Amino acid sequence: MANPFYHLGQQTCWGAEDETRTRDLNLGKVALYQLSYFRLLIGGIWQPGERFYLMLSRGRRCERIAIVPELNIPPQSDPLAVMGQWLAEAVAQIADNPDAACLATADGDGMPDARYVLVKRIDHNGAHFFTNRDSAKGRQLQDRQQAALAFYWREQGRQLRCRGSVFELERGQVAAYFATRSRPSRIGAWASRQSRPLASIEQLQEACRIADAQYPGDEVPLPDHWTGFCLVPGQIEFWQEGEHRLHERIRFWRAAESAAWQCERLYP
Ligand SMILES: Cc1cc2nc3c(=O)[nH]c(=O)nc-3n(C[C@H](O)[C@H](O)[C@H](O)COP(=O)(O)O)c2cc1C
Repeated sequence: MANPFYHLGQQTCWGAEDETRTRDLNLGKVALYQLSYFRLLIGGIWQPGERFYLMLSRGRRCERIAIVPELNIPPQSDPLAVMGQWLAEAVAQIADNPDAACLATADGDGMPDARYVLVKRIDHNGAHFFTNRDSAKGRQLQDRQQAALAFYWREQGRQLRCRGSVFELERGQVAAYFATRSRPSRIGAWASRQSRPLASIEQLQEACRIADAQYPGDEVPLPDHWTGFCLVPGQIEFWQEGEHRLHERIRFWRAAESAAWQCERLYP
C-alpha cells in the first residue's frame, strides 16, 4: 500500500505547484496574508504546524497559496498516545472546557442521541468520562456498549473523533475522579436524578439541601449511581483545518483491540 505520509517532513509544500498563483494587491491597501509557504524560507525557526502571517502594505507581490501539511502524525504512531497529546495541548492552551466532547450513543430503537461530556483522561485503553448510570446516556451505554466522541478545538483548528466499544470503569477509578470534584458538584451528583423529569427547580434545590445536610463535611461519598465509562476506540480520526477547505484527515483503525493499528489519509 502506498504510504500516505511519505511527503510529511520531506516535501514541505505538497501540491504547491497546482496551488501556487500570483495576485495583484491593490496599491495602498493594507492586507493580511497568510503565507504558510513562507516557512520554507525560514525553516528551522518555526515549528511544523505553526502559521506565519505577514503584513503587506503596498505594491505587487507574489502570494503563494500552498497546501502545507500541518498534521505530522507518522503512520507508526500510537493514535491513542496522539489523542492524549492533542487533549493535553488543548487543556494547556484553551481556557473554556477544552476537555468537552460530544458523545454519541443510540437508544433501543437505534435512534441516535448526542450530548457533551468532559473527557477527563485518555490512557492506553481509551477515553474516560463520568456520568450518572441511570441517565439516558448511562442506560444507552449499558444496553449497547458502543459510542462515538468528537472534540472540536477552534483555536487550534482541530477536530478529533473516535468510535468504538465502551466499558464501565472500576469503582476505584470512579471514586478517585469523584474525589477531585468540588463539594457542591459532589452534592449535586447526589441530588440530581439526571435525565428524569423534574417538577420544579425548587425540588432540585430541596434535594441539594437534603444531601448537604446528610454529608456536612468534606467527606461526600461516591453515589452508587455515579459512574464512569471508557470508550475503547476502533477508529480514531485526526482532522486539521487547512486553507481553502483543504483540510487534512488521517484515520487510524484496527480490526480488534489486540490488532495492529492501520492508517490512511482521507479526502477532506
Ligand atoms: C460542556 C459540557 C460538559 C458536560 N459534561 C458532562 C459530564 O462530564 N457528565 C455528564 O453526565 N453530563 C455532562 N454535561 C451535561 C450533558 O451534556 C447532558 O445534558 C446530561 O449528561 C444528560 O444527558 P443524557 O440525558 O443524554 O444522559 C455536560 C454539558 C456540557 C454543555
